[in-house]
Amino acid sequence: MNITIIAGARPNFMKIAPIIEAITNKKAEGFDINYRLVHTGQHYDKNLSGTFFEELDIPLPDANLEVKSGTQAEQTAAIMIGFEKELENNPCNLVMVVGDVNSTMACTIVAKKAGINVAHVEAGIRSGDMDMPEEINRIVTDSLTDYFFTTSKYANENLANLGVPKSKIFFCGNVMIDTLLKNKPRLEKPAIWNSLGLEKQKYMVMTLHRPSNVDEENQLKGLINQIVTLGKDYPIIFPVHPRTKKLLEGLNLNFDNLHYVEPLGYLNFNYLVKNAFAMLTDSGGITEETTVMNVPCITLRDSTERPETCKIGTNVLVGSDTDKIADAFKTLLSGNWKQGQIPELWDGKAAQRITNCLVDIYKL
Ligand code: UD1
Repeated sequence: MNITIIAGARPNFMKIAPIIEAITNKKAEGFDINYRLVHTGQHYDKNLSGTFFEELDIPLPDANLEVKSGTQAEQTAAIMIGFEKELENNPCNLVMVVGDVNSTMACTIVAKKAGINVAHVEAGIRSGDMDMPEEINRIVTDSLTDYFFTTSKYANENLANLGVPKSKIFFCGNVMIDTLLKNKPRLEKPAIWNSLGLEKQKYMVMTLHRPSNVDEENQLKGLINQIVTLGKDYPIIFPVHPRTKKLLEGLNLNFDNLHYVEPLGYLNFNYLVKNAFAMLTDSGGITEETTVMNVPCITLRDSTERPETCKIGTNVLVGSDTDKIADAFKTLLSGNWKQGQIPELWDGKAAQRITNCLVDIYKL
């Protein structure tokens, strides 16, 4: 059996790493299971892509479509054109996509039109916010998917409500957490740890890259101003995504406790998060990691596609509402943040379960 695995953007790489490892192990056990890794090139900077391959021991891609950046339509179209040729030249039995980035949706459409089955890892999650390109990617991908590998009971419920037959839904757990648990002992202090004199639990980490937060000048200014003021007693480390950097460059927002750094690799970033007093973010994936590491997380979004991180995890949604942000800081600074629990099957074995399912489905 030949599986083509798709990865395109930073949040995909930590998801494919354990899947590739599990497939390689199954093959070593004698099963007829092979993969071909296709990188669409949606992310191409070393610090958004190459570093993750090196640190997480991901084999080099068999093909790179090198699509790079563009508008939503330009990027999606470029991936589709590139992947159609790739599939023509390298036919497979199954295309496996992960997450919710443009590469996920674009390759799903191409695969189905070529008559190839699609497996979606992290299927079924929904924020309900149609202003997010990722929500559209999730809906389109899941409307075409054949095998839905899910991370939570909420995802299972969403899919069941959409009429997806139970026989197509495989609740296997969270591959992003497989990678986190495997690499926890290898996390590394970043260089800024010493240069800024950081101490455990005495700093915060912030990431912002959602268009709703970073594409409009006043919105971004207001948010950063409020956060550095409320967190004035803590250094705030801010690894800046290229999208955010574009707008920040003209703004001259300088504060003593705000430290801009380049995007960090996986081992450095998660070392910082693991030891932080709190995380401030508009990412979805990071809220899963903070839940598992029991780090307080304030999410600067109005909705989440990962409700378990709020319901049983350490995450709280505040959006861009200044009152909610102030309330969250009050709770945080008073030392009364909630204790989290770890969601079901976020145990480091999701990729093994997924591969076992494939062996059953394809009777290998
Ligand atoms: C993408 C994903 C988002 C994910 C995020 C993580 C979609 C719709 N969005 O958003 O879900 O959370 O990745 O990073 O797929 N750029 C570079 N170097 C690169 C890549 C991008 O400088 O290697 C710049 C480009 O100028 C581009 C901008 O960053 O215009 C945004 O990149 P893009 O891939 O369009 O979306 P992200 O915001 O990264």
